[in-house]
Amino acid sequence: AEHPVEDILDRLCATVADYPAPGVSFKDLTPVFADAEGLRAVVDAIVEPFVGHFDLIAGIEARGFLLAAAAAYATGTGVLTIRKAGKLPRETYAEEYALEYGAATLEIHTTDLAPGARVLILDDVLATGGTVGAAARLVERCGAHVVGIGVVLELPALGGRAALAGRPVHSLQRVD
Ligand code: PRP
Repeated sequence: AEHPVEDILDRLCATVADYPAPGVSFKDLTPVFADAEGLRAVVDAIVEPFVGHFDLIAGIEARGFLLAAAAAYATGTGVLTIRKAGKLPRETYAEEYALEYGAATLEIHTTDLAPGARVLILDDVLATGGTVGAAARLVERCGAHVVGIGVVLELPALGGRAALAGRPVHSLQRVD
């Protein structure tokens, strides 16, 4: 690859055949996160286009939490959790999104974002865009702005970027 972070991803990202279902080739980032150089390279690269333009980072359960917490610490901002249904203790907004079979729901606390806050959303993988799209709608329902969406891996064949309706998406690597 032409970029150092892509070299690290090529070296450390594991591919698991037929997981979680036959025919699916699963990209496992756990070895990247477990590597000191890998974690630093990924976190630095994922925020890079947005530095100076956000007030807070939102991470999506579960793997997005790792990126969001590290990136918030590195950039001197705070971190907010966007969680699966039923996990947050106070009043929430909820947004549903489609899964391959059925639907899922993400939630955000209604009072954790100041109106007008500029939010960077982070997750590990962009596939159909259902997950990040629901997260973006939650941020916007709080009266805050989504300044960008950062992901480590993008699966362009699944059309996530188009599903995100013009919101700026930064991915570190596109995979088939
Ligand atoms: C995976 C991944 C993204 C999402 C991407 O999460 O971590 O959040 O799928 O897919 P999409 O763009 O089609 O929505 P998963 O649902 O497996 O949840 P987990 O991170 O809690 O395991």
